[in-house]
Amino acid sequence: MLKIMIIVGARPQFIKSAPIIREMLACPDIDLKVVHSGQHYAEEMSDIFFQQLNIPQPIENLGVGSGTHAIQTAAMLEGLEKTFLKYMPDLVIVVGDTNTTLAGALATSKLQIPLAHVEAGLRSYDMSMPEEINRKLTDHCSTLLFSPTLNAAINLVNEGIPSERIFVTGDTMVDACYQHLFEAKDSTILARLKLETKDYLLITLHRQENVDKKGTLKGIIEALIELKDLKIVFPIHPRTYLRLREFGILKLLREAENIIVEKPLEYLEFLYLMHKAKLVVTDSGGIQKEAYILGVPCLTLRYNTEWIETLNSGINTLVGTEKKNIIQNVKYTLENPAIEKKMKNLPKLFGDGKAAKRIIKIILEKYNNEELTIERSNYLKEGYPVYATYFVEKGSQLDGVFLSDVEKKLPKIKTLLLCDSSGNPIYPSDDVKVINGYVIHTHGPKDEQQNLLKLIKKKI
Ligand code: UD1
Repeated sequence: MLKIMIIVGARPQFIKSAPIIREMLACPDIDLKVVHSGQHYAEEMSDIFFQQLNIPQPIENLGVGSGTHAIQTAAMLEGLEKTFLKYMPDLVIVVGDTNTTLAGALATSKLQIPLAHVEAGLRSYDMSMPEEINRKLTDHCSTLLFSPTLNAAINLVNEGIPSERIFVTGDTMVDACYQHLFEAKDSTILARLKLETKDYLLITLHRQENVDKKGTLKGIIEALIELKDLKIVFPIHPRTYLRLREFGILKLLREAENIIVEKPLEYLEFLYLMHKAKLVVTDSGGIQKEAYILGVPCLTLRYNTEWIETLNSGINTLVGTEKKNIIQNVKYTLENPAIEKKMKNLPKLFGDGKAAKRIIKIILEKYNNEELTIERSNYLKEGYPVYATYFVEKGSQLDGVFLSDVEKKLPKIKTLLLCDSSGNPIYPSDDVKVINGYVIHTHGPKDEQQNLLKLIKKKI
């Protein structure tokens, strides 16, 4: 029996984990235990999600609560190590990019327990975000990396993570969205808030960089108040609520006639409210993606995003946090019929709703093949590996050959990344062909690199 432990702690993790948890509970070969770090503890931020998403009660809740990043992460590390030593799981799963994710990853890898990261490879390339630090470190501790998109997988190979540990599975948030949208239709939230379908804007705000600075937070709130002809629903995250009160802005918000202030909403209500909104404005990563899945235009109150696919689709726009820009972009989006058109028939960029099934299939295969292990490298036996980059010339013996065949010929060589003749990165999966004009970036023992050079002809 495969003993798996999944670590959750913050609101988006309950949602992203739920499809995996339910799938694993239905699998007779898996003994699953859920552990809660206690990062989110309020009823409306935690318990309600366990109930609505049918997640079993955690076997342990570490109850770490709030604190500085170091205090919170350290408390989780200590608690998780004890839990792991008590249950000795064969695999630990962490999800997303919160402090709970990082603590789970560090505690697991220090005990040499194999680790799987769900939502691996996302990058905003902004190290001022705590989440960027968390996801980078977690990815580099992981044995199995489940990426929601090809772009995320390319980020990982670019950082030198071997492709055989990376799997593009789609996003489990899509699974959750598809699985719960039908139930969400029974929600009475629109009637309760006296709203009609597509007659309101939905906003969420919680990022540290947006809400912890008075000037930034005030500017965003003033923009909402100035959009006085627009009904706006604002379910307030606890972090944001505290700051609004501390900075004396809460009163301003409560007095604005166009703004409906709400507590954090439960998942089904929020999903429905998002589905029926005219526009979503957010600084959340997950909500940008959910808006895309539900076909609702989105404005993102940030200067970067890890979900670049939503930007390329033209239905999500980075508007930053300046008051003037927010107002202009809201007006432009609502008055632009081209955006409405784009919302129809959007491609399924984040998967087909079966990511959890794929993840579990891969985990079971690895376990049954006895590959769920942390490998000690054979480098010392084989000679220290070196990096080398080649240009595949016309007439090269590898021109037109499948990458899997190259690796069969030279098994000690790992292809880190391929680029086509225009320099675009290609994920090095087995079914990719090496073609003249491509650049191939590799890692492997020196003598094997010499053999590769003979076949490929030109080193860069
Ligand atoms: C965390 C994650 C963020 C994720 C978000 C989703 C990190 C670094 N950040 O941010 O990636 O998008 O969760 O919500 O892990 N609080 C309560 N009740 C609660 C939870 C929090 O009142 O149930 C308050 C506390 O005062 C706390 C503050 O909210 O100080 C912030 O909580 P914290 O867990 O530090 O980070 P989030 O802002 O929620």
